[in-house]
Amino acid sequence: MRILVTGGAGFIGSHLVDRLMENEKNEVIVADNYFTGSKDNLKKWIGHPRFELIRHDVTEPLLIEVDQIYHLACPASPIFYKYNPVKTIKTNVIGTLNMLGLAKRVGARILLTSTSEVYGDPLVHPQPESYWGNVNPIGSCYDEGKRVAETLMFDYHRQHGIEIRIARIFNTYGPRMNIDDGRVSKVQELKLEVSVMSLTWYISYNLCIFELLLPECDYDFYEMSQVDGLIRLMEGPNTGPINLGNPGEFTMIELAETVKELINPDVEIKMVENTPDDPRQRKPDITKAKELLGWEPKVKLRDGLPLMEENFRLRLGVDKKK
Ligand SMILES: NC(=O)c1ccc[n+]([C@@H]2O[C@H](COP(=O)([O-])OP(=O)(O)OC[C@H]3O[C@@H](n4cnc5c(N)ncnc54)[C@H](O)[C@@H]3O)[C@@H](O)[C@H]2O)c1
Repeated sequence: MRILVTGGAGFIGSHLVDRLMENEKNEVIVADNYFTGSKDNLKKWIGHPRFELIRHDVTEPLLIEVDQIYHLACPASPIFYKYNPVKTIKTNVIGTLNMLGLAKRVGARILLTSTSEVYGDPLVHPQPESYWGNVNPIGSCYDEGKRVAETLMFDYHRQHGIEIRIARIFNTYGPRMNIDDGRVSKVQELKLEVSVMSLTWYISYNLCIFELLLPECDYDFYEMSQVDGLIRLMEGPNTGPINLGNPGEFTMIELAETVKELINPDVEIKMVENTPDDPRQRKPDITKAKELLGWEPKVKLRDGLPLMEENFRLRLGVDKKK
């Protein structure tokens, strides 16, 4: 199987590559423009005979013979996707069109990593896949970009018979997350020793721990990681969309208190206004993932945070205070 992973140098993509490379029958090709990803995430595969890394921007066409395409290329953190919103739209629209064109040309199956952001600020709670969402059309290049990408996927499927898969990923945290990611898990505490919650207190959030395959830690949540969900979806018969996320719900203040307790008791919790058009509440209905993929997340926040902390300390060279 020759597999293309767009955005494979990023947080989720590089974990996916690790998992795909474990199968000796797979050849893996990563196409990435390194906007938010890094070669460092893939350094153990560079030079491997079954691995190729291409500096490529998905807004340009790519001609390559592959059997499967995992299409992840797109910045996921607001700091980065708002940096150049027009480029974010281009990545989602032109990038997805290019990858669908490639899938059509070579007869490949294609999986899109969509997002819970397609539900916008939801009026239905929790959110099943059948919910159409509540998105401000002039609010976010990311939300609408992903919604168009999903539409394109289904139009290519209906019009050209392309085999598609769509995963709607809810917030995921874990090792290799960009150090400047800036989302709620706020790894910045490690750098600044201060916690600024960027969302108002009433918001609830769901975080799904990412696969942890660090040699330094004893944990291996491999089977139930997001990556596992993506591979199960790609290999199975269902097109999706399918929610992949953690239905465990907590408020921002609860998250802040947990970070304070587990990571740094000296952090200061500061309330600031929510950013416009951010959801006030989010919780995935994962009935479909359980029934159709046999997938559900298993790692609780209290177990996941310290493991992520360990990875960040390692990368930042910051020791834990005794
Ligand atoms: N992390 C989450 O919580 C989350 C939640 C929902 C959806 N997703 C989706 O999962 C996917 C991966 O997210 P992530 O958290 O790994 O983000 P990431 O920013 O770490 O990875 C994205 C990768 O895509 C690359 N990229 C961006 N624009 C590109 C372009 N035009 N051409 C080629 N490469 C490009 C980046 O350099 C990076 O390596 C994204 O599609 C994202 O929308 C992530």
